[in-house]
Amino acid sequence: MAKSINFILLFSLLAFAPFCQIEGSLYPQFYEGSCPRVHDIVNSIVAKAFAKDPRMAASLLRLHFHDCFVKGCDASILLDSSGTIISEKRSNPNRDSARGFEVIDEIKSAIEKECPGTVSCADILALSARDSTVLTGGPNWEVPLGRRDSLGASIQGSNNNIPAPNNTFETILTKFKLKGLDIVDLVALSGSHTIGDSRCTSFRQRLYNQSGNGKADFTLDQNYAAKLRTQCPRSGGDQNLFVLDFVTPTKFDNNYFKNLLANKGLLSSDEILLTKNKVSADLVKKYAERNDIFFEQFAKSMIKMGNITPLTDSKGEIRKHCRKINK
Ligand code: HEM
Ligand SMILES: *[C@@H]1O[C@H](CO)[C@@H](O)[C@H](O)[C@H]1NC(C)=O
Ligand SMILES: *[C@@H]1O[C@H](CO)[C@@H](O)[C@H](O)[C@H]1NC(C)=O
Repeated sequence: MAKSINFILLFSLLAFAPFCQIEGSLYPQFYEGSCPRVHDIVNSIVAKAFAKDPRMAASLLRLHFHDCFVKGCDASILLDSSGTIISEKRSNPNRDSARGFEVIDEIKSAIEKECPGTVSCADILALSARDSTVLTGGPNWEVPLGRRDSLGASIQGSNNNIPAPNNTFETILTKFKLKGLDIVDLVALSGSHTIGDSRCTSFRQRLYNQSGNGKADFTLDQNYAAKLRTQCPRSGGDQNLFVLDFVTPTKFDNNYFKNLLANKGLLSSDEILLTKNKVSADLVKKYAERNDIFFEQFAKSMIKMGNITPLTDSKGEIRKHCRKINK
């Protein structure tokens, strides 16, 4: 008798555990009661934006990354400057580069009509990043939800925590580790560069003067470098755009890793995954060989990145407009 009661207790714990909120943690069904259509709304607006501009998928995926690395996944990146807030949009990694803010605004306003004051901008970023990955042919995953929005921004955090394309391997790995991410996450998430664009200014150094000796980066295929130089001159053309994956620029796949093996990674931060560390080089080779293993790890690492110090429970707020804090 006692045994069967224990069994029933255990069973109900197991059955209901996924639905009850463990304090401070996120879970996929968070809006099931309060805004059940949130997934459809996000998906339809992201799909519409992607149909109009295929690059938008990449831009939305990157926004979630640049949000999570600064004060956690709290939509701090979405705040405009006002009062004491200095917008992260002005930071080095974001200025003239981060995009997709209008799409997030459109999603937010559609959701506010359906369920006012319920869904955070931080969760909209996480859902948009997942939907963008799926739309471009990448893996799907259930997005843990329940983040709340910050009351402030950190331009210093944006400048310091987000890796720069000419950072050393050790610096980049350290920046990931400071956010609780490891070398496996670093390589898998860098696979995001299978879609989207980079400006000339982000990799020019590799084309002309990689190590201060007036020479191009020797880990960059010399024919590919010559082609890039025609559109990315020594000076000027800073904003000229180049696809990060020249083989399948709008398709989420493992060609990014295959390109690295051919010395045709666009950014220095891409190529050093192969050239500066044995563990990451082996991961690059594995993902180049096995798209399925890349996809599986990418999904896991995205969930891990999405869990970086979220605001939950009564912390922060649910913004009415993603660009400004509530009055
Ligand atoms: C590992 C360190 C990383 C560095 C140094 C880095 C750096 C960069 C740079 C320099 C660009 C081009 C920006 C421009 O010139 O406008 C870029 C684009 C991009 N990054 Fe990263 N990134 C890193 C990791 C990530 C991660 C973890 C993600 C997502 C999870 C990501 C997603 C993207 C996407 C999708 C684009 C294209 C954006 C667009 O076309 O609008 N990156 N990244
Ligand atoms: C990296 O790029 C920045 C911006 O272009 C530049 O100021 C800095 O000197 C570069 N760092 C190295 C180590 O080359
Ligand atoms: C390359 O960079 C170094 C150090 O940043 C600088 O002193 C040198 O003049 C540069 N050379 C060329 C050819 O631009």
